Order: sequence, then structure tokens, then C-alpha cells
Amino acid sequence: MTTDHITATASGHWMLGGDLRVSRMGFGAMRLPARGWNGPAGDRDTALAVLRRAVELGVDHIDTASFYAHGDLSANELIRSALHPYPDQLVIATKVGPQRGSEGRLSEAGPSELRAAVEGNLTELGLDRLDLVYLRVGGIDGPTGDRIGERFSALAALRDEGLVRHLGVSNMSAEQLAEAQQIAPVAAVQNRFSVTVQEDVELLEICARQNIAYVPFFPLGGFGLPDDDRINRVAERHRVTVAQTMLAWLLARSPAMLAIPGTSTLAHLEENVGSAGLRLSPEDLTELGRRDQLSVHAPGRQPAQEPEV
Ligand SMILES: NC(=O)c1ccc[n+]([C@@H]2O[C@H](COP(=O)([O-])OP(=O)(O)OC[C@H]3O[C@@H](n4cnc5c(N)ncnc54)[C@H](OP(=O)(O)O)[C@@H]3O)[C@@H](O)[C@H]2O)c1
Repeated sequence: MTTDHITATASGHWMLGGDLRVSRMGFGAMRLPARGWNGPAGDRDTALAVLRRAVELGVDHIDTASFYAHGDLSANELIRSALHPYPDQLVIATKVGPQRGSEGRLSEAGPSELRAAVEGNLTELGLDRLDLVYLRVGGIDGPTGDRIGERFSALAALRDEGLVRHLGVSNMSAEQLAEAQQIAPVAAVQNRFSVTVQEDVELLEICARQNIAYVPFFPLGGFGLPDDDRINRVAERHRVTVAQTMLAWLLARSPAMLAIPGTSTLAHLEENVGSAGLRLSPEDLTELGRRDQLSVHAPGRQPAQEPEV
């Protein structure tokens, strides 16, 4: 599949929070400061080039966090250096919750610490208001089910003050989403979901019914592309790559789905955005639709310790 003339706009669009128009193909910035969980460190010039090329390719939704940092590099600083002053239509989504202690380890921010986290993002990104802030809780093994009311109320107060336009929740269950919605509107949910990890399908459907964007993390599996016969077969049929097949499947899975694949390379960025123009057939979707029918061998290494997400 030639990707020369395909831009993110080919993926269609979504109105985030009802008023921010974004292409459904976006970009996740977590892989820019470091390619893996503990390195190797990213290359600053390449990271800046990737961000600028993403915008050239029509990406207008970039996902970041203060805690996406490694050594001297941080995603927020790279985004600001590459793109500020920002194009009018660019939506930058960030997350608060995890925070770095003095030894660099991540812990969970309490309600009173979330103002500083939001203000930190504003300063790092050079913004007066953040478009979308997710409250992110727990590890990557799925939602913990903890009560989030106090923390979400703290963010809702910052939204009322005008520091944040829209709120989201990340790594949350349906019950936690409902708890948040008692406090303030939720514009987006960011949970783990991909061809190979489809357990969150119920929450995806809740989001689609309520016009909440569902923005999966690890859209390409997170730990290296899977080696699965069915995915390989669909990719071969369309003469596209496994990554493009996985992204096209996500976008076809629900109109509420927004893709934010992360990469540290220009070649993968172009390949990923190129999948915005790929349309899978109903047979392809049936073939890829059932997690329990996939025989996935993920070749990528598992993280040596809890990844910093
Ligand atoms: N809310 C949360 O808890 C949470 C957790 C994790 C991530 N996130 C967000 O979600 C975004 C997406 O997740 P992710 O970046 O971890 O995972 P991902 O998109 O599933 O996978 C990224 C990995 O796949 C590789 N890759 C990317 N494009 C590729 C291609 N075309 N061919 C082969 N390999 C490719 C990347 O390596 P290369 O650098 O070599 O391309 C990187 O190792 C993140 O960037 C971050 O913004 C959120």
C-alpha cells in the first residue's frame, strides 16, 4: 500500500467533548523520550522531526504526559519545542495521576497534588488551557476499581476555573467512569485495547453510546507487534503491514475509536498514518474480531518492571 498521499484526515473525524474536531488517526508521544520502558533514550532531533511530520501528515491529536520522560528528554518539552506556537486545530491531550518522586519512581498523586500536575503540564506545553486532561489511575494490568471521586472532583474544579477544557479517565472500569460522570462530563476514556487485547469491549460500547471518545493505549500491542496467522493473512490480502492492519481494525471497530499509535521513527509514523486510508472488509473484521480465536505470539519483550505509563 502506498502511503505517499494519505493523511490522517482519511481516518474521518470525531468531535472531542462535542467541540474539538480531531482526525481519528492521532499520535502518542510516549515513545519519543525513550523507545522502551527503561530506554534506550530517544534521539532529540528525530523526535522533533517525528512531531513536525505528524502535523504535516494531518495529525491534530497528540497524546502526552509530564511523566513521559527519560534522562534529558520529556514528551511535553519536545512537543513545545517542535510545534509551539501550535497550529489552531491541534489538540494536545495529557494525563495526570502518576507522578515522579525524587528518585524518579512513579506514585499516584492525591487530590491535593493534581493542581500542581495540571499547572506543570500548562507550563511545560506553554499553554493557558489544556484541551483534554485524563485522570489516570493504576497499573497496566487493568482498572483497579479504586474510588476516584475525590481526585476527579479536584480536576473538575480546575476545569471550572478554566485551566482545562475537557476531562477524561484512563485505565478505568465502567463503574469508575460512572462515578466520574456524577461529578463532571467525561469526553474520553483511555484504556488498553487492540486486536490482541479486546477485554474492554463493554466499556467501548458504553463510550460509543454516550459519544465519549475511546482512545486505546497500546494500539499495536505495546510490547512489539504480534505474530498471528489471522492478522498476517489480512495484512497479506491488503498488501499492508501488520501495524497498518491493527490500526485499520481499531478504526473500523467503532466510530468512537481514536487511534494514537506511538513511535520514535519517521518511517513508522508514515506507515501508521498511511493506514488511515485502509478499509478492511466485513470478512477481515470477522476474522480479527474475536480475541479468543487469535493465536498470538507476541515476540516483544515484556517489561522488566512496571512500565511508566
Ligand atoms: N493511559 C495509559 O495508561 C497509557 C499507557 C501506555 C501508552 N499510552 C499512550 O498511548 C500511546 C500508544 O501506546 P504505545 O506507544 O505504548 O504503544 P503502541 O502504539 O501499541 O506501540 C508502540 C510500539 O510499537 C512500535 N511501532 C510503532 N509503529 C510501528 C510500526 N509501524 N511497525 C512496527 N513497530 C511499530 C514502536 O516502536 P518504534 O519506536 O520503533 O516505532 C513502539 O515500540 C502512547 O504513545 C501514549 O501516548 C497511555
